[in-house]
Amino acid sequence: MAEKTLDEAAVAAAWNRNAAFWTEEVRSGFDFYRELYTFPAFLDFMPDIAGRRVIDLGCGEGSNTRRFAKLGGSMTGVDISAEMIARAWQREEEEPLGIAYHISSFSDLSSFADAQFDCALSTLALMDGPDLPAAIQACSRVLRPGGSLCFSVLHPCFITPAIRWLNDGEGNHVGLRIGRYFEKEPFVEYWRFGRRPHTAELPACDQPFEVPRFPRTLSDYINAVSEAGFKIVKIAEPRPSEEMARAHDWLNRWYRHAPLVLFCLAEKM
Ligand SMILES: C[S@@+](CC[C@H](N)C(=O)[O-])C[C@H]1O[C@@H](n2cnc3c(N)ncnc32)[C@H](O)[C@@H]1O
Repeated sequence: MAEKTLDEAAVAAAWNRNAAFWTEEVRSGFDFYRELYTFPAFLDFMPDIAGRRVIDLGCGEGSNTRRFAKLGGSMTGVDISAEMIARAWQREEEEPLGIAYHISSFSDLSSFADAQFDCALSTLALMDGPDLPAAIQACSRVLRPGGSLCFSVLHPCFITPAIRWLNDGEGNHVGLRIGRYFEKEPFVEYWRFGRRPHTAELPACDQPFEVPRFPRTLSDYINAVSEAGFKIVKIAEPRPSEEMARAHDWLNRWYRHAPLVLFCLAEKM
């Protein structure tokens, strides 16, 4: 992928190519970070959505959107990838939960009315779009006053372009090297899915899994939220549970040294 052209069209094209493998990965439960760490922590952090009109920004193939619907949210999912949304609709037809899906950038929610939603949720998607301030502004417009924005992103202070685990030579992680924190040049990351078992039913990814990335600083996130008319209610930097950290060395790193994700809950003023 030519890195000079990392605009929304390139993001949509990348996730369209990724959609089939990603859907299988997520739905088969092999996204272990999601299952053991990030999603349980997000459930503890997010507001009550029972009976609320909720938009899921960057919903992907809809696994989390469905989980939110089962918590009682009246769900709308938006994603820039038509292939992701097609798979989300297909699952909705197989197991109807009353979810509406739209192909849309979260930075342009013009097909939705002002104040149409009580809550906006987003899990690990806002760092994947090129225009964060536009996304938060658009979200502010479609939320009613007093409505909530609650999102997770890869932690901008630790998941930097020069990230590398440091070890003591005996395989023990002793820290995390970060670097190039201030560089905002978009780049493409290649994911390898190393923890996934490979069987005839679950073959390895047969093409590069490209994820366009848009590095930002912590202040970029905080200021985008406050400048769009939100009051920040709380921030979290969750760790895996101690039990999970003991059971899985790859989670223990994130328990001992640095948080993988940053959560933010804000209220529209
Ligand atoms: C890592 S996936 C996360 C999907 C889902 N939230 C989940 O947790 O399973 C990131 C998603 O963000 C979507 N995305 C990236 N930029 C977007 C944009 N500007 N508007 C809407 N969706 C976007 C991608 O298409 C992709 O489906």
